[in-house]
Amino acid sequence: MEKLVVENKVKPEFKVHRSVFTDQEIFEREKKEIFSKCWLFVGHESEIPNNGDFIRRKVGGRNLLFTRSSDGVIRVLYNSCPHRGALVVREEKGNSKVFRCFYHAWSFKNDGELVGMPGKDGFSETFNCDGSKNLKEVTRMESYREFVFVNFDNNAILLQEYLGNAKEYIDLIADQSELGIEVLLDPQEYSVRANWKLLAENSVDSYHGMPTHKTYFDIVATRGGELSKDDLQGVGLDLGNGHAVVEYTAPWGRPVGKWIPAWGEEGKREIEEITRKLESRFGKERAERITRKNRNLLIFPNLVINDIMAVTIRTFNPIEPGYMEVTGYALAAKAENPDFRRRRNDNFLEFIGPGGFATPDDNEALELCQEGFLNNQEVEWNDISKGMIREQPVSNDEEQMRGFWRKYDELISNAELKPEEGSVGI
Ligand code: FES
Ligand code: FE
Repeated sequence: MEKLVVENKVKPEFKVHRSVFTDQEIFEREKKEIFSKCWLFVGHESEIPNNGDFIRRKVGGRNLLFTRSSDGVIRVLYNSCPHRGALVVREEKGNSKVFRCFYHAWSFKNDGELVGMPGKDGFSETFNCDGSKNLKEVTRMESYREFVFVNFDNNAILLQEYLGNAKEYIDLIADQSELGIEVLLDPQEYSVRANWKLLAENSVDSYHGMPTHKTYFDIVATRGGELSKDDLQGVGLDLGNGHAVVEYTAPWGRPVGKWIPAWGEEGKREIEEITRKLESRFGKERAERITRKNRNLLIFPNLVINDIMAVTIRTFNPIEPGYMEVTGYALAAKAENPDFRRRRNDNFLEFIGPGGFATPDDNEALELCQEGFLNNQEVEWNDISKGMIREQPVSNDEEQMRGFWRKYDELISNAELKPEEGSVGI
């Protein structure tokens, strides 16, 4: 097979072959090499605050249960009955000490242990002595600053090592409140007729900001959020391991610390108070970075954390090469003043909500790309070269996307070079 990602530093040119967005065989390889080997986000600890809380999650194509058992321990269980396979938990979320399978009524404690089977006299005394009939647990589950991830590869490196340079950007969000941050329930769920990697790219693509979202900037300007010459400028970084970030200033208000006139004098006092607390915890420089700078962070392969006019977490599940399901959550400081929470929610919905000024426009752009690839095989390559001529690429260059593609190439092209299991070398 021809190389899928080509980087030519001399020319300079960076291009990605369009088959990665449409080809079924490549899609299957992604499931094996990426979605079965990389750390994947499953949820935030604040989503299951009480013992017995559970949420169903689809991660890497698997049906999972994100739970806090009666002993207070967070676990991720496969939601598949060890008897004959049925989904055990059918509710989206809830709180329960016991999970009971609909089919033959086997029941399990919320840590997965099998505790009841109708017709027990039909089974041997030693049945399940080895625990193999309990709900199976995902063995590799690790958490960083309350962001919980799973990995289906037992040989995977530690989560902290995997996150590497991206940890600093998670810290800038987790540090926003001394009381911690929480997910505001419930998530938003929608689907896009486009390949999942188009959303990964789009999430750290500042280049499209002004042309695609001009209407939003016009509205922000009417509220005193005038675009200054430094706005939308900043850095775009390849963080390594496929993670990427853009960090920049922007004209919109930020509930963590950037006031706009539309929020009035009371809003100003509140922002000043938040800023003062952050300065006393972290010093002026770091506080300024937390409050004033916007960040769009991509954790390879499919977690996006946007710390912009609100904070959002997004994950996306590839269903077919040209179709993905997206889940979006809002994150906020715990115990936030209710007026502020309202402003944050307005800000969130207005831009990044599924009916806001950004998300539908972005989805339209992604679907146009997918449409453009389809049946136009003669046009083979996407170009991602912007900023290669600069020593330090800026946020509306494409260096951060190149970081994603470098890792993708390493995982997918190397898989191509590895002999298939069971094959005989010549
Ligand atoms: Fe669950 Fe039979 S499949 S009890
Ligand atoms: Fe966008």
